Amino acid sequence: MVLYNASTNKMHVDEIVDAHVLVVGSGGAGVRAAIEASRYGGVVMVSKTIAGKGGCTTMAEGGYNAVLRDRDSVDVHREDTLSGGAYLNEPALVDALVHEAPERMADLVRWGAVFDVTDDREIAQRPFGGQRFPRTCYAGDRTGHEMIMTLLDRLDATDTHLYQEVSVIDLVKDENGTVAGAIALDRDGNVVFFRADATVLATGGGTQVYDISTNSAAGTGDGFAMAYRAGAELIDMEMIQFHPTGAVYPYDARGRLVTEAVRGEGGILLNARRERFMERYDPERMELSTRDVVARAIATEVLEGRGTSRGGVYLDVTHLPAETIESRLPVMLEQFLAYGVDIRREPMEVAPTAHHIMGGLRITPECRTTLPGLFACGEVAGGVHGANRLGGNALAETQVFGKRAGEFAGKNPARSGRISEGAIEEKIRVLDDFFEGSVNPADLRKDLKLTMWDQAGIFRNAADLRTALGHIKRLADKRLCAASTANLLECCTARNMCTTASLIVRCALIRPENRGAHVRRDATVTAEPGKSPFGHTYVSLTREGIEQREAMT
Ligand code: FUM
Repeated sequence: MVLYNASTNKMHVDEIVDAHVLVVGSGGAGVRAAIEASRYGGVVMVSKTIAGKGGCTTMAEGGYNAVLRDRDSVDVHREDTLSGGAYLNEPALVDALVHEAPERMADLVRWGAVFDVTDDREIAQRPFGGQRFPRTCYAGDRTGHEMIMTLLDRLDATDTHLYQEVSVIDLVKDENGTVAGAIALDRDGNVVFFRADATVLATGGGTQVYDISTNSAAGTGDGFAMAYRAGAELIDMEMIQFHPTGAVYPYDARGRLVTEAVRGEGGILLNARRERFMERYDPERMELSTRDVVARAIATEVLEGRGTSRGGVYLDVTHLPAETIESRLPVMLEQFLAYGVDIRREPMEVAPTAHHIMGGLRITPECRTTLPGLFACGEVAGGVHGANRLGGNALAETQVFGKRAGEFAGKNPARSGRISEGAIEEKIRVLDDFFEGSVNPADLRKDLKLTMWDQAGIFRNAADLRTALGHIKRLADKRLCAASTANLLECCTARNMCTTASLIVRCALIRPENRGAHVRRDATVTAEPGKSPFGHTYVSLTREGIEQREAMT
């Protein structure tokens, strides 16, 4: 391993890899993008984990929304998505989602994905929250795993070069301001420059910035932070989805996803007094209300003293036939047996957990960001889900927008701008600085996560958000210390987490209204659905604010 340049004693680029399209991220969106882009030229995909082992797609349990039946319609899927998102969604992105989700589902089936089927051998669909038709396709409660394994198989049949356990640390631009690839660190601490005509950011989400999260350890918001540093514009970063049902105990499993499929299959929520409390919050849809409503209901029950002693509520499936639980929810059954709870006989205990970032890079329907040469898809992109995402729309999003990003990045012309040495050196200098710092990145992460959970969680107010922002700024100013090369990555990650957290809090301060997942106790506006005078919040290196818009009808 060559770490220092012998003459200057500084880090330097050890390897340059050229590609027509660089895909950063190996979740459902990234792999789908690489498959598509490989039709147009050389593709390199960089994964910070072992592909298929990290990231959120593989952990996604419940399902994939697609209109497959005549009794359903894309118009209803569209309206469910818009109303679930409190009409903050970009309509053109929603159109693409609902129209193309069935075709992308068919791709997966053609490539070998095995979804559950009905007695008539048609793809089975289950009800999910906020949807007027049971349109969530599934493979038991391990849908994402089935998808990613299929996609990786398909990727194998392309010429894509896959770099695993290699972490992109920053985007690089050429003299024209076009994104020209990215600088990365491999697992030995070598610096690799991936030079490309087009770059697809598919880095997933970042709710690891919260103390309690469903995200894998990889969900640290790197893509949001890197894109922001490069000058891209992000929208609606305040829109954080707290999934209503995360595990409450044991301590190490706190926040782990308890799939919405449990409620889709008939599970009911009870408080410590054994009241079916959703009657008070959404008597019509009950447990299958939208996630923002159910998460707030659970949080309210706990805050008002009707929660369990561990700070959760009960999620009960004991009334369902054991066979249904065993066949439809096998992962849940196994997971809770490991926690000492047999869900066929006893209720689970659950509480909200940070799950998904609805905001992200501003994109066009072709997945172009505001930076030339940079495309984005999947959770790192904003606008599809508005202020609250429907369960099952994320897996569909990975496929619809992964394909689009791969296609349009693949069609992107060859880049012509020169890349200055200074542009690269600037990125590497940050790594050198980490050898000079004094603060342990692990300590910083813990502090940040607790701050976000306590002051920028489900219920917010301006005073808490300002305190959080001040604290995040102080954390971001600390000089992080890499005790070893392995530790360099920890420093980069902690830096990205601070940036992502500050984007969330800045946008939360900017939006003065209650909308979807964003609840400000001090809000001055709570508009009727579709009547808000506000559009997206936006933030970049050069501007931040909130769009004013004509109230939608
Ligand atoms: O609850 C779940 O299974 C999660 C699904 C999703 O976030 O789409």
